[in-house]
Amino acid sequence: MLPGVDGTDGPDDPAARAAALRDEIADHDERYHGHDAPTISDADYDALVRELRAIEEAHPELVTPDSPTQRVGAPVSTLFAPVRHRQPMTSLDNAFDADSLAAWGDRLEKRLGTAPGTAVDYACELKIDGVAISIVYEDGRLVQAATRGDGRVGEDVTANVLTIAAVPHRLPAGAPRVLEVRGEVYMSRSAFARLQAHQEGVNRERLAGGRKPQPVAVNPRNAAAGSLRQKDAGVTAQRELSMWCYQMGEVDGGPRFGRHRETLDYLAEAGLPVNPEVRVLPTLDEVLAYCRHWEADRGRLDYDIDGAVVKLDDLARRDEVGFTSRAPRWAIAYKFPPEERTTRLLGIDVSVGRTGRTTPYAQLEPVFVGGATVSQATLHNEDQVAAKDVRPGDVVVVRRAGDVIPEVVGPVLPRDDPDRPRWTFPTSCPCPRGSTLVRPEGESDTRCVDPECPFQRSSSIEHFAGRGAMDVEGFGEQRVRLFLDLGLLADVADLYDVDWARLDAIRTTVGTWATAALDAARERTGDAKARAAVIDEGDVVATVPDDADDVLGAELVVELTADVARFRSTADTVRGLGPEAVAKLQAAIDASRERPLPKLLVGLNIRHLGPAGAEALAEALGHLDAIEAATAEQMAAVEGVGPTIAASVRAWFDDEAHRDLVARLRGAGVNVEGPERPDVAPVLEGRAVVVTGTLDGFSRDEAAAAIKARGGRSPGSVSKSTFAVVVGADAGASKLTKAEELGVPVIDEAAFVALLDSGELP
Ligand code: IVH
Repeated sequence: MLPGVDGTDGPDDPAARAAALRDEIADHDERYHGHDAPTISDADYDALVRELRAIEEAHPELVTPDSPTQRVGAPVSTLFAPVRHRQPMTSLDNAFDADSLAAWGDRLEKRLGTAPGTAVDYACELKIDGVAISIVYEDGRLVQAATRGDGRVGEDVTANVLTIAAVPHRLPAGAPRVLEVRGEVYMSRSAFARLQAHQEGVNRERLAGGRKPQPVAVNPRNAAAGSLRQKDAGVTAQRELSMWCYQMGEVDGGPRFGRHRETLDYLAEAGLPVNPEVRVLPTLDEVLAYCRHWEADRGRLDYDIDGAVVKLDDLARRDEVGFTSRAPRWAIAYKFPPEERTTRLLGIDVSVGRTGRTTPYAQLEPVFVGGATVSQATLHNEDQVAAKDVRPGDVVVVRRAGDVIPEVVGPVLPRDDPDRPRWTFPTSCPCPRGSTLVRPEGESDTRCVDPECPFQRSSSIEHFAGRGAMDVEGFGEQRVRLFLDLGLLADVADLYDVDWARLDAIRTTVGTWATAALDAARERTGDAKARAAVIDEGDVVATVPDDADDVLGAELVVELTADVARFRSTADTVRGLGPEAVAKLQAAIDASRERPLPKLLVGLNIRHLGPAGAEALAEALGHLDAIEAATAEQMAAVEGVGPTIAASVRAWFDDEAHRDLVARLRGAGVNVEGPERPDVAPVLEGRAVVVTGTLDGFSRDEAAAAIKARGGRSPGSVSKSTFAVVVGADAGASKLTKAEELGVPVIDEAAFVALLDSGELP
């Protein structure tokens, strides 16, 4: 934990702590708004403000007029001309959990005097993680765009906003005399990835030329903020910014509205970008369900959101409840757990994958991010470490978004120790064999090319037993390593021929040894309750059981007595393999024999062959024997396979050791037969049918499978080659608009059923 983040290291005196927090927050504000170069994550910043607010709530006499809790946004920078907002741009109050969201709703409903059970109508929106903007149209022409600034005065960024493709310069005829819209300028994730790739490319060249790398954007929000505040609007124009409008500001000479939803519809009608996920919901339960849905599903979007915003839909009633000094009472931000936090980088290690590819990864001081505690995060490859310039000892930004593997985004600069040395990529494999690592010219990956490498072997067995392949439950990293260590298996076929009696003997021996070592440790330390952690090398060496060499093998006994950490983890893992656990594992191994052929193919660890290629091969050739016998040309002719995969599969089977392995797997009774051909006519041969929204009779996967079974494809987006778009409930507007633009037929579920039957559109 960083100093000040959890508040535990602050002085006990609340006045002093509040003053210290104010200074710290002011410092971060200056970095963030003045230089677009924050040095802590939003979540850590929020925590500081929350702590200050808690102190001020407990001690109201400590509130100062200039306290950051009393104002809305950023001080105005001197780079851009100031713009006074026609109506103040206020901030929102936050709810960090379901209870405080419900409490806000209850308070609001009480103020409104709503009878229990009466619908209130909440407009629910995504909270876009970008930069707030106000845009003014006069007589339909964009005349001014300004950032929020301190809420009353913002910065004139008109020239920059005019470069954003999503923002119309003109509104259709009949626009009001004055129309102010508010929204969020953001950078999509894909645009951000392109920007990052570009910046990393530039840095690679700089590094190659012996120059220092330039700072790279750490997340889409900072990239959007930095891009929007470019002095040269030409730079902004290259940054692929976008915008979602979420609020109508001042209107003069335009229509009057009773509902927020109607204002958004009006803006959308006028060609302004309005997010398609807005919903008006009548109860707090449904509002909470909306929030939870997006909390779980945020990864599906191509832009970052940091929460949901819930607003009273009825505009007249908004006036009834009004504002506090900082924020409207009629709206609240439901904040998701942060996806980014800062923490200390303790060291960088390298892991070896199933193909020998090495991946540098960060050892971190544990940090709670994206809903989980993270102590390791990937750094991808050598170039990324260099481009990001993260060094062991640095405070770094860690990101964990959805199911994505946690990654280190970059260092927090300026670093506390400017002389901290750079990290260099190791030249030898971290495994006991320590073979030389190679990085082929022009490639970004560094590989261990030793076919005997035990780390590669364990990764490939883990992969075979993993979810995406044969799915042997309970056979993860630790057990795989143990089985390899103990010589219980050497390759994946051995999994079906484990000497379980031997495992049991080992368990007894190691168990006895671990107990004896613990007793020795207790005697040595005089602590009757000492735990396994106090066992040291002396205790291990002194207690080697008589049968150790016979049961474990002399080599392993030497290794275990020389490495206490290894002894401890071996003892732990082996002890977890009692009769019940073994029976479970045996059942899981048995069950894996029935996996469909594509899973087996994926498990074989053939370079370039992923789930889609495996599925295509299994379906087209129908049997493992046929795949083994097929020429590269025959395989390349299968749709979805292509020459690279075909050549790689052929080369794999040309290796005699691999053919032996397959023969042993076949002998062990694993399924080698492909899926049965569906008994339907290929009425959609070569046609693309896009499905959007929820259907009654099909899940998304079922609809896609039905299309595929008839020879068709089911892509995720509409193009001019799309045959038809099937719309279910709550379909996204963008696909429909696209279909209309391109003249692609749009059909409902009944027509879809008919289409599956006949291949004809009604
Ligand atoms: S409404 C008075 N709606 O979040 C209401 N804000 O933490 C003004 N934001 O300043 C804001 N998505 O920059 C609103 N759908 C949304 C939003 C949204 C993102 C931002 C906005 C605001 C900040 C408040």
